[in-house]
Amino acid sequence: MNREQISGIAHAGHPIKAPLDDDSVRRLLDHGAPRGDERVLDLGCGSAEWLLRALAAHPSLHAEGVDVSEQALELAGRSADRLGVRARLVLHQQEAADFVPAQSFDLVLSVGATHAFGGLLPTLAAARKHLAPGGRVLIGDGFWDRTPSPEAFELFGELDDLATTVDRVVADGWTPVHGHVSSRRELDDYEWACWGSLASWALDRPGDPDAAEALATATARRTEWLHSYRDSFGFLTLVLRPTSG
Ligand SMILES: C[S@@+](CC[C@H](N)C(=O)[O-])C[C@H]1O[C@@H](n2cnc3c(N)ncnc32)[C@H](O)[C@@H]1O
Repeated sequence: MNREQISGIAHAGHPIKAPLDDDSVRRLLDHGAPRGDERVLDLGCGSAEWLLRALAAHPSLHAEGVDVSEQALELAGRSADRLGVRARLVLHQQEAADFVPAQSFDLVLSVGATHAFGGLLPTLAAARKHLAPGGRVLIGDGFWDRTPSPEAFELFGELDDLATTVDRVVADGWTPVHGHVSSRRELDDYEWACWGSLASWALDRPGDPDAAEALATATARRTEWLHSYRDSFGFLTLVLRPTSG
């Protein structure tokens, strides 16, 4: 099984690929697109779940999503058809850092995808280039809630604590106008949803040649979470406006 297949099964019950529940996503989108007629860009959109929710809630909103994953974008297109929002959604399969849009956007989203740009501040620099005057950025990334174990550091790399993360964003020329720190419940629900879906998929298919690998992966990833990073990893989502200009 490739990464894409595993990710598709793991996220079947939690289509937002980040530790945020439906209410948190809705509130963040309300702060990111307060009028409801915005042009919205998602860099690293995956199956475009954030955009689909914004489009379904606001009939005058238009959206574009960028991702390298063909499978995730196909799923996004099918979901958009089902929701009747396909005409207002443009999907681009390419490296997010190489995306050159025809116009600027009122809201630029990037959640759980800062690795595509080499970190939080480079992602904000890319978002800034795509932003229309008066626009907002909605960005989600990890932070260290406690000192990480060596294994957690190996998995997630250089992150700051919550206050330092926000300080660095502010020093980079942004003002937070809303923010959400994922709760223990959101963090746990996300991990249980991913590794539970994958394990159930395997247990439902005892004769499938991929079942053993899927179950082993679910077990390994659940163990890694519980032993390596459950106590130290946090997730912050910010709605930002440029402090000047
Ligand atoms: C954790 S998922 C988050 C998806 C989505 N933002 C969400 O919150 O549901 C990260 C996404 O980034 C995409 N990605 C990773 N590297 C990328 C790159 N260089 N350019 C564009 N997308 C990338 C992956 O394919 C994946 O869909």
